[in-house]
Amino acid sequence: MKTETTIAGLRAAIRAARKAGKSIAFVPTMGNLHAGHITLVAHARRQADMVIASIFVNPTQFGANEDFDKYPRTLTADSAMLAEAHCDLLFSPEAREMYPDGRSQPTQVLVSGITETLCGASRPGHFTGVATVVSKLFNIVQPDMAFFGEKDYQQLAVIRQMAQDLCFPVEVVGVPTVRADDGLALSSRNGFLSPDERKTAPQLYQTLCSLRQAIQGGQRDYQALSGAARLHLGKCGFEPDYVEILRQDLSPAGVDDNRLVILVAARLGSTRLIDNLAFDLP
Ligand code: PAF
Repeated sequence: MKTETTIAGLRAAIRAARKAGKSIAFVPTMGNLHAGHITLVAHARRQADMVIASIFVNPTQFGANEDFDKYPRTLTADSAMLAEAHCDLLFSPEAREMYPDGRSQPTQVLVSGITETLCGASRPGHFTGVATVVSKLFNIVQPDMAFFGEKDYQQLAVIRQMAQDLCFPVEVVGVPTVRADDGLALSSRNGFLSPDERKTAPQLYQTLCSLRQAIQGGQRDYQALSGAARLHLGKCGFEPDYVEILRQDLSPAGVDDNRLVILVAARLGSTRLIDNLAFDLP
């Protein structure tokens, strides 16, 4: 696997691949890779001639009091995992390569509406940071398709909207969440959990499953269900941010809607975890 750290170097490699008629699949990441990321690479591998992954801990999507500084940087181990997964090219730029004018570059990509609720409500500016860096990466790599985990459900919706509105000729593909045996969604942030917190963490997924079961059993008072779930998570030791039952397009769900998603975000100690469960009612 080749590694490029500059935009010019990456573009030269991509030009050569395009000249040879190759299709390109792209997997953007912030590194500290786990089996979830490798599943994205495996999907990409099946779909295109050339797989490009990026590792860039994007400063603009972290708020002032968030974990940018302590976000794990594990480039050597990540490179080995990507090479083993048959990734062809890794793009791992420094911050000044991506943001030569500094992190508050004048041009930002704001996707209004869906970025204002859920994680966007408690992380102001986060999705603008994500949409901006993904736009830059799409322009740099110009892939045919790009792969994102469904664990970040709202992020995926934001990127789909951004790609559609800005006419990026990129197919945005969502890949199902990879879970540990006990149900916990794989996430780089799981590494911040203490052993006791790690034992509690699967309650997040169990809560989603219980809510789904209740809805499948005919319960439709979504506010009451969310309230009870928040209480339950609180008793387990979480500090819930939100539990929401919505339509899969993230608009409010009515009693007759049958394409639903339950989304949860909660803090366990100092670690913020998110998860979701999308399902269709008959
Ligand atoms: O999901 C992530 O790892 C990041 O938000 C992304 C999409 C790579 C943008 O920095």
